[in-house]
Amino acid sequence: MPREKAEPVKRKLKKLNLYDGRRRPKREDEFVLLPVVDDERVYSLGYEVLPVELPLRPERQIYKNLESVLAERLSEEELKHLRRYDVIGDIAVIQIPPELEHRVDDIVWGLRKVHPFLKVVAKKGFHEGAFRIRDYSIIWGEKRLETVHRENGVEIKVDLSKAFFNPRMKGERYRLTQLVRDGERILIPFAGVLPYALVIARYRKVKITAVELNREAYELGLENIERNRKRLKGEIEFIHGDAFKVLPELPSYDRVISPTPRGVDALTLTLSKAERWLHYYDFVHENEIEAFRRRIIEECQKLGRECSVRVKKVSDFKPHVFKVCADVELG
Ligand SMILES: C[S@@+](CC[C@H](N)C(=O)[O-])C[C@H]1O[C@@H](n2cnc3c(N)ncnc32)[C@H](O)[C@@H]1O
Repeated sequence: MPREKAEPVKRKLKKLNLYDGRRRPKREDEFVLLPVVDDERVYSLGYEVLPVELPLRPERQIYKNLESVLAERLSEEELKHLRRYDVIGDIAVIQIPPELEHRVDDIVWGLRKVHPFLKVVAKKGFHEGAFRIRDYSIIWGEKRLETVHRENGVEIKVDLSKAFFNPRMKGERYRLTQLVRDGERILIPFAGVLPYALVIARYRKVKITAVELNREAYELGLENIERNRKRLKGEIEFIHGDAFKVLPELPSYDRVISPTPRGVDALTLTLSKAERWLHYYDFVHENEIEAFRRRIIEECQKLGRECSVRVKKVSDFKPHVFKVCADVELG
């Protein structure tokens, strides 16, 4: 190709799955040699096809990440629509926007290149209902959404069709563990399959009481305690029930961690059970963060307590709305 035509032609070749991304293009004076795959169709495009062997890119560079792998097959325009994905155990979950629906097979191919151990690829929908279960559809592999995920030194059995689990909170679980000291008594309502409880108990000699309403999440959680039993320094007591009914019957704790389901207001409930610290997760618009902080201080005052509050953005949820964690220290 003449140099000025190289980019658009490269895009066209990629769209047609005829571009060979494993090889490097090569400049020769005013021309660029573009690598193509071995396919009859390249001869029918009206371009000159030369029998030149272009150098292969180093293996590492090819399979670095999904985007660079897919650059072999998707156009730059299509790559812009590619969303973040998660790998949970041997399952990859990815959101596929309408612009990429016709590229599902290529995306599965790309994910499997980057993560050869995958057994399932699922398309990710939205969290629904009180139990915050996501809607998934399997687009490749075994017909299951159950797997064992490894994180922060523990094994977490999850079933994405039955219970909430978010691998992106790994850093938060680590952060909280660093704040916890041996000997603490900790309460975790909305505990799911127990990711927070397991990670903290793995590294700290603490007594944790966790509460979960979804029966299937609860059963997976019990299985997770057994699965990790030999690794845990701390103890976990797990209660099946509604946090709003169970917590009033429980004593207060040194620390309360509330991975609050979206749309639920459990601030007063969880604050009333915290002696020293509360970590309260919520979804807040960026313009409302200060108001959220003040509301927590007011709630503390209503309970006759002094407190200091730091609100930390944990992840972006949708434009201008963040998942935040309020770290509350009570006086
Ligand atoms: C955002 S998820 C967090 C789960 C878990 N802590 C995690 O990070 O994976 C909220 C959890 O609260 C549970 N839940 C919802 N309403 C509840 C209630 N009233 N009492 C106890 N658990 C509840 C849901 O089933 C879900 O597992």
